Amino acid sequence: MKDKVTIIRLQEMKQAREKIASLTAYDAGFARILDEAGVDILLVGDSLGMVLHGDETTLRVRMVDMIYHTRLVKAGTRRAMIIGDMPFMSYTTPAQALGNAARLMSEGGAELVKLEGGRSQVETVSHLVNQGIPVCAHLGLTPQSIHKFGGYRVQGRDDASAAQIRTDAKALRDAGAALLVLECVPHLLAAEITAGLDIPVIGIGAGADCDGQVLVLYDMLGISGRQPRFSRNYLENAQSIRVAVKNYVDDVKAGRFPAAEHQFE
Ligand code: KIV
Repeated sequence: MKDKVTIIRLQEMKQAREKIASLTAYDAGFARILDEAGVDILLVGDSLGMVLHGDETTLRVRMVDMIYHTRLVKAGTRRAMIIGDMPFMSYTTPAQALGNAARLMSEGGAELVKLEGGRSQVETVSHLVNQGIPVCAHLGLTPQSIHKFGGYRVQGRDDASAAQIRTDAKALRDAGAALLVLECVPHLLAAEITAGLDIPVIGIGAGADCDGQVLVLYDMLGISGRQPRFSRNYLENAQSIRVAVKNYVDDVKAGRFPAAEHQFE
């Protein structure tokens, strides 16, 4: 397809300061709606453990779940780039990560794989990239470490943890990461990291200065049973899911979402 979103296209968008709109997707029906509405990246997130399976955390999601849902999303997608999430404990060593990432791509149809973590993942990112697997890194509030953090809290608020996130972002980029997701960090820190990196940075609860935005689909449709402060219910004032998603894409592209009330200091 002529306008298929690729990693090169995302790089061009960063350089042209054209905002990247991303949402999570877990099946072909929603994937088709999102794709047709102009969402650039469909993230098959392990958030499916919470919003589809009804768990409290993402920790029970398995490789078979991620491969299955990535395959469904692939079936409904023509234009958007598809990122598949590596679930909890599926990338504890570079060799294990390679085997599982390869499955997510060959069996699921992911075009990039996403994994959480900083310094400890540098060797793994480099190993995957050297084998031809593009990687999206994920820093800040990384939900697979929820019990280490002691709850869903904004990360990088004190000097030491902000410095750690900055250093990790640079190290992951140097290891070959093609994209970075920054979740729930102060907006000024996210802006600084975005400006200092030559790869696209996609924020969730990270303010308006990231190169793009991602939300959990079920949160932005108001059907997840939770309303995180950094999200917005787009279905509330829309006649249909199609219109809600289109309004989200338009808002991200025009810099109207996220607004000040969705970001953290
Ligand atoms: O699993 C997921 O949906 C994610 C996003 C929240 C970034 O990782």
